[in-house]
Amino acid sequence: MNVLVLGSGGREHAIITSFSKSKLVNKIFALPGNGGTSVLATNIDGDINDFEKIKSEVISNDICIVFVGPEDPIVNGIYDFFKSDNYLKNIKIIAPSMFAGQLEGSKEFAKNFMKRHNIPTAKHGTFTQENIDQAYIFLDSMTPPYVLKADGLAAGKGVLIIKDLDEAKHELRSMILDKKFGDSSSKVVIEEFLDGIELSCFVLTDGNNYKTLPFAKDYKKIGEADTGLNTGGMGAVSPVAFLDDVFLEKIEERIIKPTINGIVEENMEYIGVVFIGLIKVNEDPYVIEYNVRMGDPETEVVFPRIKNDLLELFNSMGSMEFEKIKLSVDERHAATVIMVSGGYPLDYEKNKEITGLEDVSSSLIFHAGTKKNDNVFLTNGGRVLAVTSLAENYKQAINLCYNKIKSINFENSYFRKDIGFDL
Ligand code: AMP
Ligand code: GLY
Repeated sequence: MNVLVLGSGGREHAIITSFSKSKLVNKIFALPGNGGTSVLATNIDGDINDFEKIKSEVISNDICIVFVGPEDPIVNGIYDFFKSDNYLKNIKIIAPSMFAGQLEGSKEFAKNFMKRHNIPTAKHGTFTQENIDQAYIFLDSMTPPYVLKADGLAAGKGVLIIKDLDEAKHELRSMILDKKFGDSSSKVVIEEFLDGIELSCFVLTDGNNYKTLPFAKDYKKIGEADTGLNTGGMGAVSPVAFLDDVFLEKIEERIIKPTINGIVEENMEYIGVVFIGLIKVNEDPYVIEYNVRMGDPETEVVFPRIKNDLLELFNSMGSMEFEKIKLSVDERHAATVIMVSGGYPLDYEKNKEITGLEDVSSSLIFHAGTKKNDNVFLTNGGRVLAVTSLAENYKQAINLCYNKIKSINFENSYFRKDIGFDL
C-alpha cells in the first residue's frame, strides 16, 4: 500500500523509517518531509493545513493510509475533512476528530475532561477578559510558583511558570489583554504548580481497544541541568528508569483507563495516539497535559524499540485485527540526543552543510531541520538531527549517541551533554 506521512520533523523521519521496513508498504510519501525523508520517501511540497492539496495528493498517488504527525492539522479538523468527503472517507487516516483534538487544542477542554472523568491533575481556574478580576483573586489564593497557560495552541510556548505574584499578574494581563500569544491566550488556565519528575505516556487507541507503547522521558530545556529556554525537545530516553510496576499500575488504573473510557463514552471518534504528559509527585501520577499525536523527540526513542510491523499495526486500527496484535518491545534502552543550530530556540542560521551522516552502523540518525540539495544535506531548521542509539542500559545508549555525534559536523552546532542526568 502507498502511505502518506504529514510533517517534517525527526518524528516523521522515524515513522517513515519504521514504515519503510513494513511488509505491507509499497510507496511512501512525505508532505512536506525533510532531507532525511527524501531518501526513503517522495517528498511533496505543501502545507500540512492545506486539506484540498492533501486530498489531491491522496488521489493522484493512490494513498491508502495517511499518518498525521503534528497537532495542527488534527486540531484544524483533518479527520472530519476526510470523513465528510466521498473519496477520502474510505482512506484510513491516523488522527482523531476535531472534537477530540481539543484535548490538545484547548487546555480548558482538557481540564474539564479530566474533571468529568476523575483523572488526577493540578487544580485550576479558567479566566478571560470578562473575569480577569477573579483571576487576580485566584492568584492571591495560591502559593508560588504560578503556572499560567494559554488556552489554545501556542507552538509549545504558551506556558509560563512565575515565582513572583506581581509578575504573574503582569504576565496574566499581557496574555489576556495584550494577546501575548495571539488569540490562543485570550483565555488563560491558571494552575497549581506540581513539583515532580515528568514522563511521557503514549496510548494507541481506535475507540474500542488500546495499547500502551513504551514510556519515554524528554528533555525540553536548551541548557544543561534543565535550565534556560524551552525548546521542542533536546533529547529523550525510553524506557524510563524510575517507572516501576507499582507506579505503572497507578498510571494504568487512575489515568490510562479513565482517559480511554472517557474518549469512548463521549463518542470522540479517536483513531490515533493519546500522548499523556505525566508528572510523578511523591509516589502519585498526575496529568500535566494531553496531546493528540506522538511526541517529538520521544518518537525517536519509542518507535525504534517496537519490533512489530508498525504499518500493519496502524492499518489494523479500527478493525478486529487491532486487538489481536500483541506489541513486541525491544528490552534494550534507547536514547536520542538532538543536534540543533547554534542560537536555537532564538535566532539561528540555516543552509550549513552537514557532514558525517554516512556511517549509521552504531546509531540511527533521524533528520529534523534538514534539506537535501544535489546530494548534500543542509541545515534547514533549529532542531537539525536526532541521533538515536540502543544499548543494554540508558547510560551506554547515551554514550553511543555522544560518540556518534563526534563524527557529525555542521557549523555552529549545539547539543546538550547531559541527557539522562536526572535518572
Ligand atoms: P504543557 O504545555 O501543559 O505541557 O506545559 C509545558 C511544561 O510546563 C510541562 O512540560 C511542564 O514542565 C510545565 N508545567 C505545566 N503545567 C505544570 C504544572 N501544573 N506544574 C508544574 N509544571 C508544569
Ligand atoms: N516532546 C514533547 C512534545 O512533543 O510535545
